[in-house]
Amino acid sequence: MDFTLPEELLLLQRSVRAFVEEKLLPHAETIEKTDAIPRAVIDAMAGMGLFGIGFPEEVGGQGFGKLGYCVAVEQLARANASLWNVIGGSAGLCGTAIDIGGLDGLRSRYLPDLLSAKKIGAYGLSEPGAGSDAGGLKTTARRDGDGYVIDGAKTFITNAPIADLFTVFATLDRAAGSKAITAFVVERDTPGLEIGPNDEKMGLHGSTTAQLSFHEMRVPADRRIGADGDGFKIALRTLDLGRLGLAAHAVGAAQHLLEASVAYAKARVQFGKPIAVHQAIQWLLADAAVGIHGARLMVYDAASRADRGERITDRAAMTKLYATELLGRVADAAVQVHGGMGYMRELWIERAYRDARIYRIYEGTSEIQRVVIAAGLLADA
Ligand code: CAA
Repeated sequence: MDFTLPEELLLLQRSVRAFVEEKLLPHAETIEKTDAIPRAVIDAMAGMGLFGIGFPEEVGGQGFGKLGYCVAVEQLARANASLWNVIGGSAGLCGTAIDIGGLDGLRSRYLPDLLSAKKIGAYGLSEPGAGSDAGGLKTTARRDGDGYVIDGAKTFITNAPIADLFTVFATLDRAAGSKAITAFVVERDTPGLEIGPNDEKMGLHGSTTAQLSFHEMRVPADRRIGADGDGFKIALRTLDLGRLGLAAHAVGAAQHLLEASVAYAKARVQFGKPIAVHQAIQWLLADAAVGIHGARLMVYDAASRADRGERITDRAAMTKLYATELLGRVADAAVQVHGGMGYMRELWIERAYRDARIYRIYEGTSEIQRVVIAAGLLADA
């Protein structure tokens, strides 16, 4: 068993790292302060191929597979977390749902634009009454001639204010539970689609989020993803891969916080010595390093399995749970090592601490990941 990355992925790692440092990090504070990402920054990420990195070349991707995607995302995490959030909501969730569930016509119609960021996507699954219980969604789709009529509402939809395309999940029969859920591609200018104002959040400033509502919204049948009733499985298969990307991002964010904490501990002098000589600080750093090493191996293992065509539901849940809880601990330790400066807006540590909090909530809470893991363990019991 060889745990080293292949040369082409090491090259990708180095080039994304350099791109992040030169082209993205200079924008981090402006994005935070203005709560907006300049379109030129999104275009630069697209020019670097970051929207399509894990997708096959035949649909406009870069062909690096899920392992390559995770390697790139880990480096992207060194920049403002909201930057990857645009990619994760667009190509990562909206694009993946179309890729894994759509027929070739739908894939070739929408994926090249999503993977080059000519169009931005959003993933419309969560509803005011259906967050963790995604199968309990209430948005309805009714067959009507050569299309469907959709009514309902979605909430916390990443990218909604800037998105051109939405994957929308709706049920053909509320009484049939998740088996009647069906997925659609909805274009922004569709009559009956209403997009709410940008939500104000604790962190991830720059990444936009809004509610969607559908009022007798007509969607042609050729924009259905998969067959009637396939929607819930498409949603969960998409989330398996989304959770993996999120875990990779958590690993990269934790690594960046650890490196900053090591540097600060060596430079900060108290009682006549750098604080790094104190074991109380060393243990915080050591625990962070152990957790990051473990989480990274989990990410690479799950990504490699996805590239081999294995179903990764349990491993994605374990990896997301472990990596995002780790990030919470590492962000807390980073603030502690930086002391008063860790709490000040002057340093990016305070922003990273706030940004880290959402990882344990979106794309399935830590509690839901445990439900998925336990379901796998008990499947044959
Ligand atoms: N892949 C494929 N099929 C799957 C699957 C997967 N990962 N997981 C379950 N299924 C199948 C099951 O095998 C079952 O199939 P059959 O009916 O043929 O037996 C069917 O789907 C239903 O499965 P469950 O009975 O397990 O479904 P459930 O209703 O009990 O829900 C759940 C399971 C794990 C709780 C699920 O609802 C879940 O993951 N909830 C969390 C939702 C979530 O992560 N939301 C995040 C929204 S997106 C976001 O956050 C991004 C953003 O923009 C902010």
